[in-house]
Amino acid sequence: MNVNIACLEGDGIGPEIMASAIEVLNTIAEIFYHQFTFSHNLFGGHAIDETGTALPNETLQNCLAADAVLLAAVGGPKWDHGVERPESGLLRLRKELNLFANIRPVDVYDELINYSPLKSDRVKDVSFVVVRELTGGIYFSEPRFHTENEATDTLSYSREEIERIVEYAFSLAKTRKGKLTSVDKANVLESSKLWRKIVNEMNKKHPEVEVEHVLVDAAAMEIIRNPRRFDVIVTENLFGDILSDEASMITGSLGMLPSASRSGNGPSLYEPIHGSAPDIAGLNKANPIAMLKSVSMMLRDFNLHEESKSIESAIVKTFNNGYLTSDLGGDTTTTEFTKHVNSYIEAFAVGGVNR
Ligand code: NAD
Ligand code: IPM
Ligand code: MN
Repeated sequence: MNVNIACLEGDGIGPEIMASAIEVLNTIAEIFYHQFTFSHNLFGGHAIDETGTALPNETLQNCLAADAVLLAAVGGPKWDHGVERPESGLLRLRKELNLFANIRPVDVYDELINYSPLKSDRVKDVSFVVVRELTGGIYFSEPRFHTENEATDTLSYSREEIERIVEYAFSLAKTRKGKLTSVDKANVLESSKLWRKIVNEMNKKHPEVEVEHVLVDAAAMEIIRNPRRFDVIVTENLFGDILSDEASMITGSLGMLPSASRSGNGPSLYEPIHGSAPDIAGLNKANPIAMLKSVSMMLRDFNLHEESKSIESAIVKTFNNGYLTSDLGGDTTTTEFTKHVNSYIEAFAVGGVNR
């Protein structure tokens, strides 16, 4: 299969985890006889330094023309006080590609249950997906401005924006355990009242899905108290951002959670949920698992299931053999971890791939 991938390595640990992803994709291409073509694009802080904008037009055009976009992370203290921030490039890219559905799976590896800060009996067998609305809400609504003495953000959602993300979540729930938790703040926010009403209306179209509504503050608590109760969580942009970072700790590290952002037509974007980790940038310490699992989600979307499985099982073998990055208490470097994943993918191929 030929796949054109627009790569946006970004800032901080971005280049290190992107290198890991490309190495693994090259191994997959060789073993499974695919052709992956990579375009490397300026994006984020480095793009601001070189071109004055976080999302240069050439980068946007390459993303629009690609089969998939692979993004590492953007941002860092260097750009925190400039006129344009790296993060604004990411928000523009999501909007331009119409990536309204951000899928953030939270799956606990049995082998790593002791690495979670939560007790192992709480985290065992946890598997849920956060479906985060990604192109609306307080991130984008107008008016938004600040002056010396006042600042305004606006949280607004249209029926259409709510319906399409909720429809996505119902469909996903049907392929899983059939349970949908809609997270809102309907006791206070008008946008949440509409959100809840629409979820209830749509439940009539999908009666086989069990729906519950949980207020966001209670949901934050439940993710720690009893994370096994969740199957699919659907929520608006900002709540989904916060709850998914929280949920990452069930797995032991923010460096574990991947994501896919989809529009339904046009290229999807695959990226870890974490940021550019400026505190460990350039130290070869970054955990590449979130990035590699994002690659695995991309391969699954192209129906390359064996290829995706080979990455997942190589990751498990790598940490089963004691190789863990420092966020999980180990001392394996990003490059060593990647080398082991690659060698297990090769072994997987020798063991069982139909060439
Ligand atoms: P962060 O996610 O970058 O880091 C939070 C903590 O988690 C840090 O201690 C970091 O070292 C650790 N961490 C994150 N990913 C890791 C990994 N793969 N391996 C090991 N440790 C990891 O969040 P932050 O520090 O709040 O933000 C830093 C910058 O990243 C900010 O500019 C922020 O806007 C940006 N950011 C970008 C994205 C993105 O590009 N999608 C996402 C989140 C934050
Ligand atoms: C994420 C990040 C982004 C977000 C930032 C960097 C704009 O935190 O992808 O989770 O808030 O969506
Ligand atoms: Mn985030």
